[in-house]
Amino acid sequence: MAIVIKSPREIELMKEAGRILALTHEELKKIIRPGISTYEIDRVGEEFIRSFGCIPSFLNYNGYPASICVSVNDEVVHGIPSKDRILQEGDIVSLDAGVIYKGYHSDSARTYGVGQISDKATDLIKVTKESFFEALKVCKEGNHINDISKAVFDYITARGYSAVRDLVGHGVGACLHEAPEIPNFPRLKRGAKLKAGMTLAIEPMINIGTYEVEWLDDDWTVVTADGELSAHYENTVLITEGDPVILSQANGIEL
Ligand code: MF3
Ligand code: CO
Repeated sequence: MAIVIKSPREIELMKEAGRILALTHEELKKIIRPGISTYEIDRVGEEFIRSFGCIPSFLNYNGYPASICVSVNDEVVHGIPSKDRILQEGDIVSLDAGVIYKGYHSDSARTYGVGQISDKATDLIKVTKESFFEALKVCKEGNHINDISKAVFDYITARGYSAVRDLVGHGVGACLHEAPEIPNFPRLKRGAKLKAGMTLAIEPMINIGTYEVEWLDDDWTVVTADGELSAHYENTVLITEGDPVILSQANGIEL
């Protein structure tokens, strides 16, 4: 599948999708506390996205039953919100969300601590986020997808972590998942050359222990094979002739 180069008009629509998505994460960050259910997080997220007249990208995507993926502790991604899943002090929680604005998607994820968390968990969240920014440094025309993969991988492995291999980042635009795949580990081939107008969801999924993951019986929730913690950080990024632009951001909102 060919990589779609976005027109200036498409980029404007993705910027607006990304702005609303950034505001959504900000809204969700405020309600993360011990005692809240993952279901409530999804309710707040969906309502907030719809209040802008937008559609949550994930709802019914390949049958996914909610708007926000809420993944706790050893859950890597695609946790299904549930009234029975109550966040506890010391948990870490990854929130992955997508917004469709006038037919264009933005996709981003954040991991938060619930109340006080261990130093070990704090470091995992920090390094996972930093690895995204390492990748951003090589998001330049003329570089290749494998440079992004290598930037994430080298950064996290140097700090003792492992990168999930069974799930990857991706192009994003009129579809949530477009070409190319963006692994968080290097491959033998350098992959597609980066070109201005490409829009990429770069999303390190980083584990404390093994990189291996398993799927739960709900067919969605991905967990670490060894039960150790996992963190996720993602933004939608525009490649330009100069510096890359993070599309999933809003003025005054922390990345
Ligand atoms: N953000 C996820 C990704 O990048 C999408 C969640 S899959 C869904 O692949 F089915 F839940 F939408
Ligand atoms: Co994604």
